[in-house]
Amino acid sequence: MDRRGFLTLPLAGIGGRLLAQQDEAFRPDVEIDLTAAPAEHRILPGNLTKTFSYTARLVRGRPGTIGDPIGFLGPPLRFRRGDKVRIRLFNKLPEATIVHWHGLNVPEKADGHPRLAIAPGGEYLYEFEVIDRAGLYWYHPHPHEHTASQAYWGLAGPVIVTDGEEAAAGLPSGEREIPLVIQDRNFDARQQLEYVTNRMELMHGFLGDRILVNGAPDRELTLGTAAYRLRFMNGSNSRIYKLAWSNGKPMTVIGSDGGLLAAPREKPWLTLAPGQRADTILDLSGSSVGERLELRSLPFPAPMTMGGMGRMGGIGGPDGGSGLGNGAPFSVLRVHVARKEAGGFKLPARLSEPAFKATRAAVNPGAPRQFSLSFMRMQWYLNGARFEMDSVRQNEIFDAGGTYLLELSNSPQGMMQMAHPMHFHGGQFQVVQRISASGTGPMKDALADGFLDEGWLDTVLVLPGERVRILMTFPRYKGLYLYHCHTLEHEDSGMMRNFRTV
Ligand code: C2O
Ligand code: CU
Ligand code: CU
Repeated sequence: MDRRGFLTLPLAGIGGRLLAQQDEAFRPDVEIDLTAAPAEHRILPGNLTKTFSYTARLVRGRPGTIGDPIGFLGPPLRFRRGDKVRIRLFNKLPEATIVHWHGLNVPEKADGHPRLAIAPGGEYLYEFEVIDRAGLYWYHPHPHEHTASQAYWGLAGPVIVTDGEEAAAGLPSGEREIPLVIQDRNFDARQQLEYVTNRMELMHGFLGDRILVNGAPDRELTLGTAAYRLRFMNGSNSRIYKLAWSNGKPMTVIGSDGGLLAAPREKPWLTLAPGQRADTILDLSGSSVGERLELRSLPFPAPMTMGGMGRMGGIGGPDGGSGLGNGAPFSVLRVHVARKEAGGFKLPARLSEPAFKATRAAVNPGAPRQFSLSFMRMQWYLNGARFEMDSVRQNEIFDAGGTYLLELSNSPQGMMQMAHPMHFHGGQFQVVQRISASGTGPMKDALADGFLDEGWLDTVLVLPGERVRILMTFPRYKGLYLYHCHTLEHEDSGMMRNFRTV
């Protein structure tokens, strides 16, 4: 299906909504007008590429709140912890949309649930206080069945939250702090984005054969002999990255989805699943001018296992026709050390106090709530069900602000298995334990050393046959929220459920 064909699909069941009434008691520190609209950008040599893109305008707040645009993606939005934020969303798209603040703990009305999607021409008002730790979060659409395509056309951007604890760590900042959004895309011969959702792709997840960093292919960073803070975000629909430096130096990781780790960690590579972020330090102060290095994604096995039918996929996994399967190796980014600069950076041994909880603090420490990820009747299921706009099952009801032990189990008996990056709205969780069934071996061996399980996460990769126990503190606000697979094609095709906080 070509893009035009896609755009003419009917927008079943989504009505217009008027701009919600502004709360006069809410005194915003920051006010932004955010517009989602069709646009054109120079991505490849040749024709401009048609996209859907966000633009933002600062109505009130500190200069620098809206960062420089990054290609066809939305600009970074910079908030301070404690900021009261008001955002007006204007939908100039030819289809319904709504924005979700990925990783932030916001009131129900501000979370971007698909039932709140606004029709073309509509507006939506967000008001929330930034109560989360300093970290790299993001914003992207969430209309049901159109999240994947809208994110793919370009609707995604970083949210950078700062706080006093982070400032005290004295990390590289200004030009030495670089957000890097990694995505894969397919282009046709006329430099237009191709997005195809056939049945197979909804099952496997969409993969593109062009790797973009901050919206551009073949990205090269020209840096000095100094330390840099590289903040990665996997904004791909379904690609998993195994990131490593070409000179064999370990990745120095300082943060995960939910902000800074307690202390820096060196890892041979970084496993970044769709939706996840990783904060790293690249210290070039010992490098010489002229040095070059490359960030690569290393090969790993990503089989799709079919009961009784053996495995599908070769070196990586099935490639959805793109030729570059999940697990195939490629170059992500080049770094060129081009100038001498005063270095002298010392990475602090303590970065933050993450204030982790103990499992015994959970409402249910001895009996984790069970959530299955499974495949039946040619579709993905979550908690034995598929997405329904308003429904919640008994085990999907939690006390607002309560901490619970959950077990996400990637059904070992399923007729088909894949790795699923599982995401909860409304907060961050800790990974308590990963329990492997037999047969998880090769993929786990290849990826596990790059997991960021020691930090706060809002998205965790659950490997085939694995049971992952997490300790999740649910939103302090009451309402209807979502949890889902962040392989966006899985999410759109129903591997998503509501939970309710009461
Ligand atoms: Cu980034 Cu509902 O997710
Ligand atoms: Cu989210
Ligand atoms: Cu999935």
